[in-house]
Amino acid sequence: MDKMTVKDIEVSGKRVLVRVDFNVPLNAEGKITDDSRIKATLPTIEYLIEAGAKVILCSHLGRPDGKVDNRLSLSIVGQRLSRILRQPVVVAEDCIGPRVEKAVASLGSGDVLLLENLRFHAEEEKGTAAFSKDLARLAEVYVNDAFGTCHRSHTSIVGITNYLPAVAGLLLEKELNTLGRILEAPVHPFGMLLGGAKVSDKVGMLDNIMAKVDYILIGGAMAAAFLQAKSYEVGLSLIDDSLNIVASLMERTLSNRVELVLPDDVGVTHEISPEDLVQNVSIKDIPPDKRIVDIGALTISRFTRELERCKTVFWNGPMGIYEIPRFAEGTKTMAKIIAGLNASTVVGGGSTAEIVTEMKLADKMTFVSTGGGASLRFLSGQELPGVEALLDKK
Ligand code: 3PG
Repeated sequence: MDKMTVKDIEVSGKRVLVRVDFNVPLNAEGKITDDSRIKATLPTIEYLIEAGAKVILCSHLGRPDGKVDNRLSLSIVGQRLSRILRQPVVVAEDCIGPRVEKAVASLGSGDVLLLENLRFHAEEEKGTAAFSKDLARLAEVYVNDAFGTCHRSHTSIVGITNYLPAVAGLLLEKELNTLGRILEAPVHPFGMLLGGAKVSDKVGMLDNIMAKVDYILIGGAMAAAFLQAKSYEVGLSLIDDSLNIVASLMERTLSNRVELVLPDDVGVTHEISPEDLVQNVSIKDIPPDKRIVDIGALTISRFTRELERCKTVFWNGPMGIYEIPRFAEGTKTMAKIIAGLNASTVVGGGSTAEIVTEMKLADKMTFVSTGGGASLRFLSGQELPGVEALLDKK
């Protein structure tokens, strides 16, 4: 990575504003269901505490659209962070303003303050100069450790870098280096396992990576689009993509000599309901009144064989409607297989990362990214505004 990091700048005794991505999943009761994003920032936070900085953390949580929404207060995150760090973490009542400035002024070296949800202010997403200055006033140094939000040109990601010396945190550095290696020098054979709903979300990445990858395995709802493009009946399966996109992707796998592996069989049901039994059928026999909800048993074996050949594996997207236990077989089996591979295994963020964490397999993977949209954008070869805005290494 060619950007300065927190280790390249003096932080001792300084007020350091760290943009983190504490946008953690919450359940209906407002409890955190996966704290990986909090734990992933510990190297930076602990480094700053040990270096004697006054640590001011800021993040968004959810999409409150510029209004205060107490269900999206970061106080619950502050409590969890405090437990993990084993030291007090004060949560400010806002992220800017005189009272926040007073809370900052009372910080000692090694203290940690968490600002309230940045997106309670509409200006956060607009990237305004006034909001940038209000945030910048709190600190002397800015650190971006929010890889998951670096694809957004928001005030706390880009605007603020006009007013403070801006460097990368250690999580951001690790994300860029690990994903960068996949793009630049993957060890071959290199396989990608892709699932989820939409091909169009992943076209940019597939285009960029086509010349470097050896196998592309497709499961999940998006497999239906590929099967339809090959003239199979896909019943009631919802197809969100244009067949042109899919057909042109298939052509490019041929011209790049990439082996495209589609399901041989799938799990189908009539309704998407936890009670509905899954029927395993060949892709040649998908009934017109049923929809695809998982990959089938033969496909699991075929995908396993292909992945076992690989020395680098990147996985993004579930193999079916994994939220419903009966439709989660393919996703769960692939997670276990990837965790046991003798290969460099990288998991894209978002729901795929949550699945791996829930199954307690995260530490069996080489790397689990904390960025969903951000990792896809990075692997598409596009610049991340949040990274571009940081100081270059001298
Ligand atoms: C994410 O969860 O992908 C990031 O926190 C960004 O959130 P956003 O999509 O609401 O900008």
